[in-house]
Amino acid sequence: KAFPTGFQWATSTESFKVEGAWAADGKGLSIWDKFTHTPGKISEHDTGDVACNSYNKMEDDIAALKKVKVSHYRFSISWPRILPDGTTKYINQAGLNYYKKLLDSLIAANIEPQVTLYHWDLPQALQDVGGWENETIIERFKEYADVLFENLGPKVKLWITFNEPFVITVLGLNDRPDTLPYIVGHNIIKSHAEAWHVYNDKYRASQGGLVSITVNSDWAEPRNPYKQEDYEAARNILNLIFNLLHPLMSSLIQFLLEFLFSRLPEFTPEEIKRINGTYDYFGLNHYCSVLAFPVDFGTTQHFEADRGVVVISDRTWLETGSVWLRMTPFGLRRLLKFIKDEYRNPPIIITENGVSENGPVDLNDVHRKYYYEKYINQVLKAYLLDDVNIIGYTAWSLLDNLEWGVGYTERFGLFYVNRTDPDLPRTPKASVSFYSSIISCNGFPD
Ligand code: NOJ
Repeated sequence: KAFPTGFQWATSTESFKVEGAWAADGKGLSIWDKFTHTPGKISEHDTGDVACNSYNKMEDDIAALKKVKVSHYRFSISWPRILPDGTTKYINQAGLNYYKKLLDSLIAANIEPQVTLYHWDLPQALQDVGGWENETIIERFKEYADVLFENLGPKVKLWITFNEPFVITVLGLNDRPDTLPYIVGHNIIKSHAEAWHVYNDKYRASQGGLVSITVNSDWAEPRNPYKQEDYEAARNILNLIFNLLHPLMSSLIQFLLEFLFSRLPEFTPEEIKRINGTYDYFGLNHYCSVLAFPVDFGTTQHFEADRGVVVISDRTWLETGSVWLRMTPFGLRRLLKFIKDEYRNPPIIITENGVSENGPVDLNDVHRKYYYEKYINQVLKAYLLDDVNIIGYTAWSLLDNLEWGVGYTERFGLFYVNRTDPDLPRTPKASVSFYSSIISCNGFPD
């Protein structure tokens, strides 16, 4: 039983966590450079200064991708590498050249790029004037997108504007949880829509690519299947997670906006018109499921409290190298079916799915083979049995890399990166041949 012809098999990385070369060739400072350079923020004082040194090891990365036999590679652009102070006052040609070379090398290797514009490494200069909270960032993002479409667009057919807006708004900016996620959420949605329109108006006819956004979502299962309120809680969690998408994708837009963005600020009718429909496919990052049930938060002014729901994990679900991630393959099929029904059957690309380990290195990563086998099988069921319009699957990640706050201690890679060797060699784990055999069969070997 196979996936559709032309199914996109990919793996992924992102700029800050693999490139290194944090101050090379005119690159500006990003918020993650500054954050990781602040003592006490990241486990083991890890930084992205060298990371996997992908900036200088492009050939090794391409060789790794060829070994996996992927048809697509998802990576992100470092905004401050292109626009060091975040604005188009100065465009750093060396930064553009790096990505042009990467794109050319991928195309020469017969691997199609899928490029993310924003995977969280904001130019620090923009943060200094308020970052995503300051609505002038909408214009900045639009200009940045324009520079990328113009210079790199001829080599790219698949774009992602934002990676995981929920994480940026709710988890990343939690110092004023009662207002900040709403303000930032609005600015991100508008920035996304402007970038999509730039592409649509200026580049789509000549470049013929697709532009979308990637959201993260767990699947929410009712904790107690006997309780109607737990079903409602699960539904509310999905609404909360997807609320940044509703303005783009839902026909119920006005109702949902009133319901979900009741605090601050409001979209005007013109803005709603401009935002609605600005997606060319549904980008999904998915890792695990949660159990949902309602609680009374009282008067707490907290983002999650809006929905009055709590989520937990089931202790019988297999643990992994990340505390937040337990193996729950069943949830992926249910989530895909939910997206199909909720958003009128959009084409879906799974833009991330994967599992980590920590502790001693073992190249025989049986847990990863197990995870991919079970999850990909659920994707296949969603395609064959539920008629979900799934067009691509992306394994996170090509390389062991800097897992944000926990640094290099959690390893999501198909390839192990030996950090004690200054050359940072990439060594395939056992899951590489497993994943590549699935790719070669476009499904499971008999
Ligand atoms: C989602 C994020 O996009 C990525 O940055 C992160 O490393 C993975 N999840 C794993 O946590």
